[in-house]
Amino acid sequence: MANTPASGGGDTQFKTKLGVVAATLGSAVGLGSIWRFPAEAQQNGGGAFLLMYLICVLLLGIPVMLSELALGRAGRSDSVGSYLKLAPKTRWWIAGGLGVLSSYMIISFYMVVAGWTFEYLWDSITGALYAGTSGESLAAMENTFHHRMEHYISSDVNPLVSTYIVIGLNILVLMMGVQKGIERASNIMMPLLFVLLLVFCGYSLTMPGAADGLAFFFKPDFSKLDWSVAANALGQTFFSLSLGTGILITYASYYPKGTNLVSTSVTVSLLTTVVAIMMGVIIFPTVFSFGLDLNQLRGTTLVFVTLPEVFAQMPGGQWWSILFFVLLLVAALTSTISISEVSILFVQKRFKKSRLAATLIMMCPLFVISALCSLSFGSLSDIKIFGLTIFNFLDTFTTNWILPLCALCGVVFMGWFAPRGVLRGELTNDGSVATRLYPAIRFIIRYIAPILIAVILVSSVWK
Ligand code: ALA
Repeated sequence: MANTPASGGGDTQFKTKLGVVAATLGSAVGLGSIWRFPAEAQQNGGGAFLLMYLICVLLLGIPVMLSELALGRAGRSDSVGSYLKLAPKTRWWIAGGLGVLSSYMIISFYMVVAGWTFEYLWDSITGALYAGTSGESLAAMENTFHHRMEHYISSDVNPLVSTYIVIGLNILVLMMGVQKGIERASNIMMPLLFVLLLVFCGYSLTMPGAADGLAFFFKPDFSKLDWSVAANALGQTFFSLSLGTGILITYASYYPKGTNLVSTSVTVSLLTTVVAIMMGVIIFPTVFSFGLDLNQLRGTTLVFVTLPEVFAQMPGGQWWSILFFVLLLVAALTSTISISEVSILFVQKRFKKSRLAATLIMMCPLFVISALCSLSFGSLSDIKIFGLTIFNFLDTFTTNWILPLCALCGVVFMGWFAPRGVLRGELTNDGSVATRLYPAIRFIIRYIAPILIAVILVSSVWK
């Protein structure tokens, strides 16, 4: 979910402390934590993945976020412009360009999943999602939901229509600059989403077999830990915290001078992690109580199969389903809007285009690129790039490679090449906050983060 500044143009600022946290948290919490995290956890050994993810958030996520926030607030421009301002006449702007590229690659497949969310909301409202499931045994019900999702995504037309509707909604919002409405809506939706997830956690914990699911999610099986689990956890950390995408550089350019970057980044990282953990607590007990074979499940569709199973068990399940998919759609939409802001602000600032022109230039190609992603579950499923479908290639390649690479450039730049005093000035608000933490944060940004990111990247290539 995202709040964007009133004009959405870049010459504005977030007005309040709450606005800053809500906006940044909004950008972070979205399909990444709700849809992608459980899928990754399922495919990467459950507890082993959770452990790596937590280590990545604490050791890398927070410092990388700080370096990007400091860069954006000091640069006060789009992600390319911020590098240009702090390092004129150098090639560091390419790192900012990588952020624009990575955010664009993310929206390309993100729109497709947002489209699925739209379809599931629609089917929840009409009741089609639950048709024929009442009175079914758990196993039969799982079969029904599983096949429904597989059938839906592998058809060419319906998911494409939903994807186009979502892209259209984004264009409308971004063009009209009605972010104020989105901002207000997000302020209500965000806490509501937390409450709703808590209710679902409660339900899922009462399911038979919940203990096995919790053990899978919380008990790390160390034999599952390898470099690819580490690379996937690193990628997930960057995806869910919106790192390496230019989003935080763009957003921090809207932060008021007095914003405490350290407390903002800790709050955002922890709350995003809480949402991801809540999703694990909802999904895995359900998966186990339905007796599903984890190796057979397709991660990308997990949430769309498992959550309807939970709703079907709950009294008034259809209403819970409608409420959940409304919130998920708002979370997805406002996240796509925040991701789009990176490339739109880039075109506005670098090519001196109007808001309207920049929006059209950046959003219209998505009608083709996202269509390729959507069709990669259907008639384009045979097209493989390095053995992956177009959708999976864009997801895996961007998340595991481009985001860490872009984040690596950010920490190296802020740790070693930014003008003297910029990092300290931004992180301590010129000496007024967090001075005691500063040396440790700087040490991590200069040494630990670059080394760890590089090691994980190189090791997973080696593998
Ligand atoms: N951080 C955003 C999300 O997780 C991209 O959805």
